Amino acid sequence: MEFRDVVKRFGDNVVLDGLNFSVAQGDRVTLIGPSGSGKTTILRLLMTLEESNGGLILIDGVPYTHEYRGEKWVEIPEKRRRVVRNRVGMVFQQFNLFPNMTVLENIIEAPVHVLKKSKAEAITRAEELLEQVGMSEKRDFKTNQLSGGQQQRVAIARALAMDPEILLLDEVTSALDPEIVADVLGVLREIAETTDITMLLVTHEMQFAREVSNRVLMFDHGQIVEEADPETMFTNPTHERTKEFLKAVLAH
Ligand SMILES: Nc1ncnc2c1ncn2[C@@H]1O[C@H](COP(=O)(O)OP(=O)(O)OP(=O)(O)O)[C@@H](O)[C@H]1O
Ligand SMILES: [Mg+2]
Repeated sequence: MEFRDVVKRFGDNVVLDGLNFSVAQGDRVTLIGPSGSGKTTILRLLMTLEESNGGLILIDGVPYTHEYRGEKWVEIPEKRRRVVRNRVGMVFQQFNLFPNMTVLENIIEAPVHVLKKSKAEAITRAEELLEQVGMSEKRDFKTNQLSGGQQQRVAIARALAMDPEILLLDEVTSALDPEIVADVLGVLREIAETTDITMLLVTHEMQFAREVSNRVLMFDHGQIVEEADPETMFTNPTHERTKEFLKAVLAH
């Protein structure tokens, strides 16, 4: 996937200011940067939950939210967007499960309604995924009867049920109690080790970022200020802004 000169504004607030970066297939990329700098916005743009104000977002070299027709920058019809968006899955900080549905219903909802899988097929896959995230026993529970860590594991299973090629993870452990953070990270580590899903993650868990990602991007003031492998980024960053930021985060 590629961001090419992407601009995003909220009113006068320029959040992405001609942002350029790309993620190759199978890459595991961690995005770091200060609070309010626009990390979530980047992921939401990829999910088409936000509209950009300029530039292109491409997957496999093909723009999928907007494109230039001659000089004109126009929105791509929903039908074409959806095809691409279905290749992208996202797990949110606040889980965002459907509270009135059971665990199983949450997971089969999109495979049945969006991918048009048969219910039986969707259930078989959901059960496999529940096993993988250690949640088989809660299959028929309503999601509001689950702890935060359990909800997040269901949210991960739900994202995987769409067989995404790209998985976006937005601070997926930051709403969790410290003692269950390790469980959720363990589930993600296993996904990283056993699949070739491209991952773009926002996290403050630097140790985790170091273990699973092969590249780290430091983002600030609407642009990428530094890019390095995790070892270099966390032990020997180049830019003053990165040094400052990591000092603050690691001291936390
Ligand atoms: N729907 C919205 N309406 C107006 N402003 C918004 C909206 N969503 C985000 N913003 C603004 O865009 C900026 C970037 O927000 P974003 O949530 O992307 O930051 P972030 O890097 O994810 O921060 P954090 O680390 O705290 O999660 C912030 O200034 C925020 O106030
Ligand atoms: Mg955020």
